[in-house]
Amino acid sequence: VPTVGLIGWRGMVGSVLMQRMAEEDDFARIRPVFFSTSNAGGPAPTFEGVPGDAGPLQDAYDLDVLASLPVIVTAQGGDYTKDVYPRLRAAGWDGIWIDAASTLRMEDTSVIALDPVNRSVIDAALASGVKDFIGGNCTVSCMLMGLGGLFKSGLVEWGTAMTYQAASGGGARHMRELLTQYADLGGVVRDELADPASAILEIDRKVLELQRGGLDATQFGVPLGGSLIPWIDSDLGNGVSREEQKAFDETNKVLGLRGEDRIAFDSLCVRIGAMRSHSQALTLKLTRDVPLDEVEQIIAEDNEWVRLVANTKEASVAELTPIAATGTLQVPVGRLRKLNMGPEYLSAFTVGDQLLWGAAEPVRRMLMIATG
Ligand code: HSE
Repeated sequence: VPTVGLIGWRGMVGSVLMQRMAEEDDFARIRPVFFSTSNAGGPAPTFEGVPGDAGPLQDAYDLDVLASLPVIVTAQGGDYTKDVYPRLRAAGWDGIWIDAASTLRMEDTSVIALDPVNRSVIDAALASGVKDFIGGNCTVSCMLMGLGGLFKSGLVEWGTAMTYQAASGGGARHMRELLTQYADLGGVVRDELADPASAILEIDRKVLELQRGGLDATQFGVPLGGSLIPWIDSDLGNGVSREEQKAFDETNKVLGLRGEDRIAFDSLCVRIGAMRSHSQALTLKLTRDVPLDEVEQIIAEDNEWVRLVANTKEASVAELTPIAATGTLQVPVGRLRKLNMGPEYLSAFTVGDQLLWGAAEPVRRMLMIATG
């Protein structure tokens, strides 16, 4: 069994990764070595299936220990990757590096791992000696898990995604901040809410006053509870956010498309007050007029996790929401219809758990492919 170094297993993405590895009995297929950036020498964790002799925790900054491993998986974050990865490679390490952070994603030497969508790209890369396999941006991975069938069939001429991204994309502290804001907003009008005769405009005024002045918004920078934030990640200075740039760059890289072959894909990425599932509304220009039932079939047959949702009110509000998708590997796709613009124009809506297919699951599956 291959020995695998696991770094960043305690954080939010890492915890979901460990949970999924335990569920799938992955620890029986590898020999895990757990690392810590702060508690080297401490006891290794005891996830279901982790052998009793896994400990103690190794120092995540000890290049000699890291370099002794054939495979390293990290969910420690981009700062760790920036710091450790170049030094490890400079020291001659030629093992497989599997990473959830974005740092190495767009390097020519890396592949973005999303095997239900790009297994052939991954296999070709492994065969040609590629050693860096990076989990994709959550929004991109969730979108391609849902609509990958259309992209892979070469049916997408161009596309746009209007996103509705959950707080978890910012991190654990962002989720807490959102909930605290909701609690504070509810609290400030508790008495008025208890009285059905109280004036709604007075409630609204009090809520707005708190949103404009008294909410802790340390993590997001501005209040999210009861509002939205129409910008995610940094400002690239050309009117495009880094999250939006990733949508174009990574969608094409996952699909193995370069240069002229790349699909024009534009996004407008928005943070909303959902907890951990990202949603997105897509407009796709198809290369030809494909009947809607064929479109549905191509989408549904692409992978075993896609769930087609009937384009009715009843099904959409029940099955096509963050609440429905969260905690599951299912990727609902619905609101499928041709647009008034013409028969090549398709509308779609999809939702995906940002921590599962958006982060941990592609990394977990890549580990199993690399060690399988
Ligand atoms: N950038 C994403 C977000 C998370 O903020 O929602 C990481 O893919």
